Amino acid sequence: MALTIDAAFAARNFEELYGYSPVGVWSAPGRANLIGEHTDYNAGLVLPFAINRRTFAAIGQRTDGTVRVASEGFHGVIEVDFGAQSTPTLEGWSAYPLGVVQVLSELTGHAVEGFDIYLASDVPTGAGLSSSAAIECAVAIALNDIWDAGLSRSDIALAGQRAENTVVGAPTGFMDQFASMFGEPDSAIFLDCRSMDVRAVPLGLGDFEVLVMDTQEKHSHATGGYASRRKACDSAVDVMGVSTLRDITTDMLNETQQKLDEETFRRVKHVVTENVRVENAVAAFGARDFEAIGELFAASHASMRDDFEISTPALDLAVESSLAAGAVAARMTGGGFGGAAIALVASAQVPEVMTAVAEAFTAAGYQPPLQFTVVPSQGARRDI
Ligand code: GLA
Repeated sequence: MALTIDAAFAARNFEELYGYSPVGVWSAPGRANLIGEHTDYNAGLVLPFAINRRTFAAIGQRTDGTVRVASEGFHGVIEVDFGAQSTPTLEGWSAYPLGVVQVLSELTGHAVEGFDIYLASDVPTGAGLSSSAAIECAVAIALNDIWDAGLSRSDIALAGQRAENTVVGAPTGFMDQFASMFGEPDSAIFLDCRSMDVRAVPLGLGDFEVLVMDTQEKHSHATGGYASRRKACDSAVDVMGVSTLRDITTDMLNETQQKLDEETFRRVKHVVTENVRVENAVAAFGARDFEAIGELFAASHASMRDDFEISTPALDLAVESSLAAGAVAARMTGGGFGGAAIALVASAQVPEVMTAVAEAFTAAGYQPPLQFTVVPSQGARRDI
């Protein structure tokens, strides 16, 4: 029987490991992004949703300045002394939860009296479904409660991003943390990363499901391509004399092309056109116009493959083979360079699409993708 990862499981394992009951269990979900990729750190538009896979954080309080953290997925307990004079060095997977402890302490001015933390998660890691934001938001919402710090959901999301940027060292935006904090059942989260307006968009998926096709090609945003894409966007902002790429409209693309080198222009073109696609997707989901959604997903994927160059042959194959087998829309999701693609598939057709995608992977010599459907779900919360 498959292991059920839930709040009771986290509480039980906490008790077994640390020998006492936690003060509570909090959880936060991973996310899938419907559309709007690499637009968040460019003050643009995104449309992610929180998925029905979560990270549970069971937490107990200590008084000696020590924070211990353990996770169902990793062996051993990591122990860090926050009571010492100097800032502790945080490394490896524990930098995600411990980074949040450090950042929340800085933000609220609350001294770290110490915690025992046990994490259990069914969000796959490295799949582009933001297992990292799920850890950050679960721990951050817990500390906000325990310390009675009064931070808003937006503040907590931004604290998670700050931990990831400054402690983990990945120069990511804040879409994932907003999706994890603001998720609502059956809805996507429409976030304007300039005005910081957040709105739930009911999806009305009806008989359609969102299929995740995880290529299992592992990626890390702390190194490589993600950072170089972000740099290219920043350099375009400087050359164009604007404050963010959001200030560049599609009408300005010709003028932009004159001023930028060919590659940087393609990066900018992706971001500018992706913002328009997000707006159109919000309208298309509202109208349940799956044909339009299919076109928008296809254009988004092509833009990521050809202009932003963050797709991989396996992600392209997942998109192409799912569409050929009857999916109405498909695109890679998340930061890219591996991870997952998503497809909108009529419920009755999900098994045959999964089989066709698996066969296409085998025929191409790739390891079979991990496939499962996800449901738009509630954001971070206290469970126990
Ligand atoms: C990763 C980052 C997000 C966002 C996406 C790309 O998931 O964490 O902030 O930039 O990539 O859209």
